[in-house]
Amino acid sequence: MGNITKIAAATIGLAAALSASAGEVEVLHYWTSGGEAKSAAELKKIMQAKGHTWRDFAVAGGGGDSAMTVLKSRVISGNPPSAAQVKGPAIQEWAAEGVLANMNGLAKAEKWDDALPKVVANVMKYQGNYVAAPVNVHRVNWLWGSADALKKAGVSAMPTTWDAFFAAADKLKAAGLIPVAHGGQNWQDFTTFESVVLGVGGPKFYQDALVKLDPKALGSDTMKQSLETFRRIKSYTDPAAPGRDWNLATAMLIQGKAGFQLMGDWAKGEFLAAGKVPGKDFLCAAAPGTANAFTFNVDSFIFFKLKDPAAQKAQSDLASALMSSGFQEVFNLNKGSIPVRTGQNMDKFDDCAKLSSKDFTETAKNGGLVPSVAHGMAIAPATEGAIKDVVSQFWNDDKVSVADAMKQIATAAKTQ
Ligand code: GAL
Repeated sequence: MGNITKIAAATIGLAAALSASAGEVEVLHYWTSGGEAKSAAELKKIMQAKGHTWRDFAVAGGGGDSAMTVLKSRVISGNPPSAAQVKGPAIQEWAAEGVLANMNGLAKAEKWDDALPKVVANVMKYQGNYVAAPVNVHRVNWLWGSADALKKAGVSAMPTTWDAFFAAADKLKAAGLIPVAHGGQNWQDFTTFESVVLGVGGPKFYQDALVKLDPKALGSDTMKQSLETFRRIKSYTDPAAPGRDWNLATAMLIQGKAGFQLMGDWAKGEFLAAGKVPGKDFLCAAAPGTANAFTFNVDSFIFFKLKDPAAQKAQSDLASALMSSGFQEVFNLNKGSIPVRTGQNMDKFDDCAKLSSKDFTETAKNGGLVPSVAHGMAIAPATEGAIKDVVSQFWNDDKVSVADAMKQIATAAKTQ
């Protein structure tokens, strides 16, 4: 073989080797706000560095309702993406359809069982096989405060009880500010509602009422009190709340126009992306009455069965990246959540994340760790949807009485 022929052969060989390992990953997610997009970009960077092509499949809409609709139609038409942001009991539903890939080979090689809390690992498995990988733990029961707005209104500390919360809200109102920034969408209504139930009734009541859907708990005085407290919060929101996106509600705190927001810690990602400093520009505290509890929301990706070997390799590299300690650090620093891998170093994280990490560990021991219903962690999607609708109707229509809402929630809880 002449030199030129040798070089040509080597080049062809190299190209063939590259194309055998470089594939495309199409990843469906709903991370489109400022902080979320920055977090998703970290994943894209890692995949590109591995030589793969990243096809972004972002479907806007907080909480992911629109993304799930789009995903269903793609899978039904026989053209699933490589991976999709799906979590909680919905993972089992997708796996039962027989469309998910078995990731056990990688999970064994990388010792995922050792890296994850057992409760989380179980959610990622279907019939003992890994079909999904988790990236974080979001805490949902947070209250965010705008330092500027609170200062203007003379509120000196974040409230730890609902009484103190309403007293502070009155001060904000008197100062001409919007006490509570809210976005009227059903997942946001329920994000507020579940924090109220947790704060009013405590973790045991939360479990009985919202997770076990026990009719006795749903018909109790504590439920009545929770709905009354929830309705009272609405009177501190502004008329433009209906339909507002959650990140626009966070922006109202960033701009000092509103005092509080009840939202999971993806809101922190938004403050950080706007250059705001925790403890100085904005404050984080457990939602009133919930300091000893933690509503968890674990973001994860499911992996679809693919035929093309290069696409399978890219998918496996994606799963490996998601579970890597380096990615979990940089991703969660941007996202506002904490890594789901156990024993992860928290030195680079801020005080809100450190508090979250400490409370996650402590509540796991004392029974205060509960799954978020608003964020698809607790009950079957159909039941969750039915209950959310009823709670939002109650929030939106002052003519629906507390007693009626209680009956409607109990009926919706039977939806399968
Ligand atoms: C949650 C999701 C978060 C964040 C939020 C707003 O359900 O777990 O990652 O995206 O919705 O869309």
